[in-house]
Amino acid sequence: MSPCTSGSPRRRKRIKKEKLPADFYIIRRMKEDDLFEVQAIERVSFPNPWQINTFRGEIHNHPISSPYVIVHRLDKRVIGHIILWHIQDEIQISNIAIHPDFRRMGIGESVLRQLLSQLKKGGVKFVSLEVRPSNVAAIKLYTKLDFEILGIRKNYYHNPPEHAIVMAKYLV
Ligand SMILES: CC(C)(COP(=O)(O)OP(=O)(O)OC[C@H]1O[C@@H](n2cnc3c(N)ncnc32)[C@H](O)[C@@H]1OP(=O)(O)O)[C@@H](O)C(=O)NCCC(=O)NCCS
Repeated sequence: MSPCTSGSPRRRKRIKKEKLPADFYIIRRMKEDDLFEVQAIERVSFPNPWQINTFRGEIHNHPISSPYVIVHRLDKRVIGHIILWHIQDEIQISNIAIHPDFRRMGIGESVLRQLLSQLKKGGVKFVSLEVRPSNVAAIKLYTKLDFEILGIRKNYYHNPPEHAIVMAKYLV
């Protein structure tokens, strides 16, 4: 029996997350060929998913949008996506999703750390995002990365209706 599940609750140890190999995935610009996989991840990730044409628009919306996919290095499968919007010298994270099969492995955190570090090197000083108050996983992820709550946008989301929490981080 696994030591993680046996014994009294007091003696149970938390399962340690395996460290993700550095070469588990690559991040690259999203292409038209990715859209089918991206849309599939989007559909299982959000109650109100972006449509394929929205992603297509992001691909062609230079220089405002930087859409990326996270690709499994071995089988080349798309396992996540992230969209950054450039607003002057600030960045808004407008979308991030990891395929359910690959969640809780540290990928979201690792991808964001990598991109935030690149943005900082590129001179970006401020990164913001909106998140549903009910999205505990995402809020915990952003908090772990030192994003702070800036405020609330009332009635921001539809289907289901919800306010948005605005979170942000200064890259200093
Ligand atoms: C939010 C999301 C991107 C996180 O990606 P992920 O790769 O699973 O996250 P990670 O494994 O890197 O987790 C990093 C940290 O985030 C937090 N976290 C992630 N998933 C969590 C969950 N289900 N419950 C609680 N905390 C969670 C934890 O603090 C975790 O750190 P820990 O493992 O040391 O506890 C993923 O759950 C997802 O795609 N959700 C659906 C789409 C979405 O909600 N996007 C955000 C829109 S604002």
